[in-house]
This record gives sequence, structure tokens and C-alpha cells, in this order.
Amino acid sequence: MHLLEKLEQNRNLTLEEWQALIQKQSEYQKEAEKRANILREQNFGNRIYVRGLIEFTNYCKNDCYYCGIRKSNQNAERYRLSTEQILECTDTGYELGFRTFVLQGGEDVWYTDERILELVHAIRERHPDCAITLSLGERNRDSYEAFFKAGADRYLLRHETADKEHYEKLHPKEMSFEHRMECLRTLKDIGYQVGCGFMVGSPYQTTQTLAEDLFFIQELQPHMVGIGPFVPHHETPFGKEAGGTVEQTLYLLSLIRMLKPDVLLPATTALGTIDPLGREKGVQAGANVVMPNLSPTNVRKKYELYDNKICTGDEAAECRYCLNRRMETIGCELATDRGDAPGWEHR
Ligand code: 5AD
Ligand code: FES
Repeated sequence: MHLLEKLEQNRNLTLEEWQALIQKQSEYQKEAEKRANILREQNFGNRIYVRGLIEFTNYCKNDCYYCGIRKSNQNAERYRLSTEQILECTDTGYELGFRTFVLQGGEDVWYTDERILELVHAIRERHPDCAITLSLGERNRDSYEAFFKAGADRYLLRHETADKEHYEKLHPKEMSFEHRMECLRTLKDIGYQVGCGFMVGSPYQTTQTLAEDLFFIQELQPHMVGIGPFVPHHETPFGKEAGGTVEQTLYLLSLIRMLKPDVLLPATTALGTIDPLGREKGVQAGANVVMPNLSPTNVRKKYELYDNKICTGDEAAECRYCLNRRMETIGCELATDRGDAPGWEHR
């Protein structure tokens, strides 16, 4: 059987089949995008969910070889937002119609569990009708449980690669592949809506490691999957490596939509960075979420995970309107409800 048909019908392929599918990109790309776009429409209509992204700290104890805010980057100008500043962002976002806030940051030890809890409580109290998504890296089960009890609904933790050897080429030895995988399973077990994900075209990635990524998604059954192209950052060990391509990112978005027709799948800022119409193309290849920047304008340039990141403009609400217009050009509209994973109970 045609592999795309098999994927659409069974939503389950062997590792070998995944690899074959990834290798046959030029043959299958158009058809995959068409089917994925139809599946997105069948599941979500023309509604694209928005998540207000608040980049609340760029301090990080890790040293990932690809990331611009790695601890060894002495030229990164570090910042942390105060609770008051974060609440100003959520207030602005609320006015703009956002009902999901994503708190994203480096692995910053200053943010003890107590401080994160204070933050979650404060947002919960201020915006009881909003979803709170955390994206602050690896912590232990007790911390994740406490955040969840405090009212955090969702957690994003990209697995980065499902291949241990590949993982070790992207990260220094202090970082453990097993621990990252364990975190994802723990988060799911606790009851979060969970997002994993990876970069497309990261150094040393192969069709084999990509097949493992898709196989891992098939097995984990996350509620969200974040993928975007690898984009080199000049102050990192991978500064001179090639970046990921638009075409391969779109193809993988389509395959993920076909694997999980109701998954929450963002058209990422990284995709919008390497192609001015990247996010529109992402939606047309199956993505159904966009994550406009809600961070205070004076810190946006400092949260530079990769070079030339877009959305660092000096008008706070710009991204909201920009994305509105962009989605309209492709017949979509921004949805202003929480946009929980289908079937998910609002707690
Ligand atoms: N290019 C693209 N994505 C990157 N990320 C980090 N550095 C880069 C880069 N240079 C991604 C990682 C991380 C997420 C927050 O951003 O996948 O999980
Ligand atoms: Fe940020 Fe367009 S989405 S400027």
C-alpha cells in the first residue's frame, strides 16, 4: 500500500516505514500537504489557535550546542522578568483576546519551585479562564506535580531528538537523554497536556533519527508537537552549520498531522524566520497554532535562540495583528478560546 494511505488509515508505521516515507519526500510532499491540510480543516475548521508567548528569562544553566542563550554565550545580555512585568504581559494579552499564556524560559535556577508557584498562582488568580502553559525545561516529578496542582495546564518540552547518540551530539555530557525522556513521561502521567518536538535539520540529523522522532511521537501520543527548522546562531558551536529547510519542515508538519489528526501543531516563529511566509505555509501544510510574542518589547531581542529571529519589533501588540492579517490571507481566523487538546476537560 501507498505509505501515505497506510499512515492515514492506521496512524501507525514501523520505523522502517517512517524512514522510507521521510526519504521519499520529493515524491510524497505535495500529496502529504494536501491531505494534512484537509485533516486540519476537518478537525479545526478555519480556526487557528493563538498562544501568547512570554519569554520570561534568558538565563540558562545548560549549554546546548545549538542554542543562543546557552550559558557559555558571554555576549547574551541576560534578563529576568518580575512577576509584575509578567502580569502586565498577560493583561495586555488578555485584552488582545489571548486565553493561553506560555511561560517560556531557559533553565534558570533563580526560578526555584517557590518562585514558579508564585507566578502560576498569580496568573491563575488574575485570569481564571485562561490556560497556563509552562516551558521551562527539566525538573523533577515533585516540581512538575506542584506546578500542576497550582494550576498549570500544559507543558512544552521538546525532546530535541529521539536518538540517544544524536542527542549526545547536540548536548554536552551533563545533559541526559534518559532524563529528558523520563520528564516527558512524567509530565504526561501527572495529567498535563504535553508537547514534545524537535528541530528540523539540526546537525547530525539523518532520515534514521527523524524516523525515530516520528516513531517516538507515535508512541508518546503527546497533545502538542513543536517543530521548526534549526537556524544557526553565530555565538554557538553550531554557528557555521547549515540550517533546516522550509520544505522539509513543511513535509514533517504534514506527516505529524496525518499521524495525529487532532494534535495541536504550531507553525513556529523559526519557520517564519527562514521564510517570510513560513507560518502561512505551515498552516497550509497542517499546522493549527501560532504563538505570537507577548514579551515586553525591550527584552525581545535578548531572547535570541537563533540568528535573525523575527517578532522583535517595538510595538507590543504587533504580532497579534500581524498574525491576524496573515491568517486571513489564507482563509483562516485566529480563535480566541483556550484551545485545549480535543476531549480535554477544562479543570
Ligand atoms: N534554531 C532553532 N530552534 C532552536 N531552539 C533552540 N535553539 C534553536 C536554534 N538555533 C529550539 C529548541 C528548544 C526551543 C525552545 O527552541 O528546540 O527546545
Ligand atoms: Fe510577530 Fe508578525 S507575528 S511581527
